[in-house]
Amino acid sequence: MSERYQENQVPSQVGKTAFVTGANTGIGYDTARVLAEKGARVLLGCRDEQRAIKAMDAIRVRVPSANLAWIELDLTSLASIRSASEQVLAEEHLDLLVNNAGVMVPPKTLTQDGFELQFGVNHLGHFALTGQLLPLLKQQTEARIVTVSSLAHRGGEIDFDDLQANQSYSRMKRYQMSKLANILFTLALSERLAQAQCGLKAVACHPGGSNTELGRHLGPLKYLFLPLELIMNSSAEGALPTLRAATDPDAVSGDYYGPAGWGEFARSAKRVAIDAAARNPQQWEQLWQVSEDLTGVTFAF
Ligand SMILES: NC(=O)c1ccc[n+]([C@@H]2O[C@H](COP(=O)([O-])OP(=O)(O)OC[C@H]3O[C@@H](n4cnc5c(N)ncnc54)[C@H](OP(=O)(O)O)[C@@H]3O)[C@@H](O)[C@H]2O)c1
Repeated sequence: MSERYQENQVPSQVGKTAFVTGANTGIGYDTARVLAEKGARVLLGCRDEQRAIKAMDAIRVRVPSANLAWIELDLTSLASIRSASEQVLAEEHLDLLVNNAGVMVPPKTLTQDGFELQFGVNHLGHFALTGQLLPLLKQQTEARIVTVSSLAHRGGEIDFDDLQANQSYSRMKRYQMSKLANILFTLALSERLAQAQCGLKAVACHPGGSNTELGRHLGPLKYLFLPLELIMNSSAEGALPTLRAATDPDAVSGDYYGPAGWGEFARSAKRVAIDAAARNPQQWEQLWQVSEDLTGVTFAF
């Protein structure tokens, strides 16, 4: 497949069902849009009904026959994640889960279950969701779990001594930690799936720098990023690594996709390298254990 990967290289998704979290805007929206254009039934996991309807309407303008449904999902709440999972488990099959929703550098906030928001939404929420959807995903030999990380995972550290930022809170460090957790989770999951001889693939990706609503908590700092908008990905381009991770027939479990341009910042999509610090099975294990303990979700491989 060419390195100038584009939307038209996404293979037909007819007959497949995909669940995309945070699908009402940004990269999640464009991922859902393309999957729908390629014929998938797409479940949009969103917390706000009006925003979900607006996104589905926008997709239907381009694909009038799109097969879409809103699944109410608030990743700040384990109860909401459980209820969303129950709805998805009622589907006949699930071929793709895209753990995309995310929050970046908010003021210190706790989720409804008392987790620091970025770690809670970006990692723990998706951990719980994936564990609860595993029984349905496992029924498909070719199913995939794609988790959206970030260039910011580089230099990230999991603060196991202060997971909920009770002692100190650095907005950026916590974002980096949550995005490193996305990679550690994917690698740990991939390892466990292989051990269980499951055909499922766990793949990670990142969208480089993409012009979306992610900067909503940056405040006046966002003006510093304005010049970057000239070279940033659009949201649609930022979705390409996710789409490739989700549908490229050559993707292998444990792979990581990002933009193909300089510094993985923008343009197209290709397989990219995971930071060496994330290739640490001891960390995978430690994170897995605390994630199970905190969410109460265990995976039935
Ligand atoms: N844009 C970039 O340059 C960039 C770079 C690296 C990584 N990423 C990653 O890409 C992913 C998508 O980000 P984006 O750039 O598309 O940002 P975005 O435009 O802000 O979209 C984020 C999505 O996540 C949803 N979300 C946030 N909190 C949620 C919660 N508690 N429950 C359910 N949904 C929630 C949002 O829903 P609402 O609209 O209801 O808030 C929205 O749909 C994130 O994981 C982000 O970390 C983005």
